[in-house]
Amino acid sequence: MASPLGCATCPLVPARAAALDFPVGQLRRIAAAEGDVDETKRNVLKLLAVAGIVGAGAGGLVGGTIQFLQPPTVGISSYPKVQLLDVDGSPLTVAKVESEYNVETSELFLFYYPLQNEPNFLLNLYPASGAPNGSNGAENVTGGIGSHQSIVAFSAICQHLGCPAPAIAFYPPGTCPNTPGGKTFYIHCSCHGSTYDPTSGASNLTGPAVLPLPQVTLITDEGPPYTSGNIFAVGETGPPVNGHLNTLQGDYAVGSTSGLVKETPVILCNFPS
Ligand code: FES
Repeated sequence: MASPLGCATCPLVPARAAALDFPVGQLRRIAAAEGDVDETKRNVLKLLAVAGIVGAGAGGLVGGTIQFLQPPTVGISSYPKVQLLDVDGSPLTVAKVESEYNVETSELFLFYYPLQNEPNFLLNLYPASGAPNGSNGAENVTGGIGSHQSIVAFSAICQHLGCPAPAIAFYPPGTCPNTPGGKTFYIHCSCHGSTYDPTSGASNLTGPAVLPLPQVTLITDEGPPYTSGNIFAVGETGPPVNGHLNTLQGDYAVGSTSGLVKETPVILCNFPS
């Protein structure tokens, strides 16, 4: 009598013997003319080869894109000594500044230092009439050079949100009825009303800015106390220029000279007093 499991018409059909030959996880090897071939290994190698080609292509594309989207960092490693020139291109001397510019000068005179995108005010806080009384001008101010220690230079980029000159500007005595901090002359930013005191290192008088303007260090080629001679910019003190993590990084250097540029200020008197 035949076994029920071997009967073709029986309802209980035994599982295929071949299935028992390849349990889950076992590599299947088949015979080929040149010998045994591991199909799984071959497929994995193919996949890796394709992935490598695609990855290399994608990597090159992304790398190239980043290279163009992100320009190389530019800047300098230390503050250069830069000679300042007057608007006519001639060397700027203490004598010229004291005869051509004073605290009543209504136009702005800017120079770029140490980088090409960093403008600065050049100011002479001494009054044309002489003998400042505190409200019509000043002498012996922080960082000042010249006969009266009244020639100073400050960043012309606001420390609040970075409005540059002429939106930020020097206001001579009598420009506005406002007297922020009791000062009759000051640097004012028309963007949001911040004011700075040029007699004390451009310290902040009214907000929203809370930091002073960076001050450019000025010297002359005739030595301390720098009362005469050709004027040079040699450094900067205070916080970094707004918009720069480091005052020396973010653009190219200005070169060995930097000329004054005249600008008309934006005057806005409706600011906090
Ligand atoms: S940017 Fe100057 S006050 Fe806001």
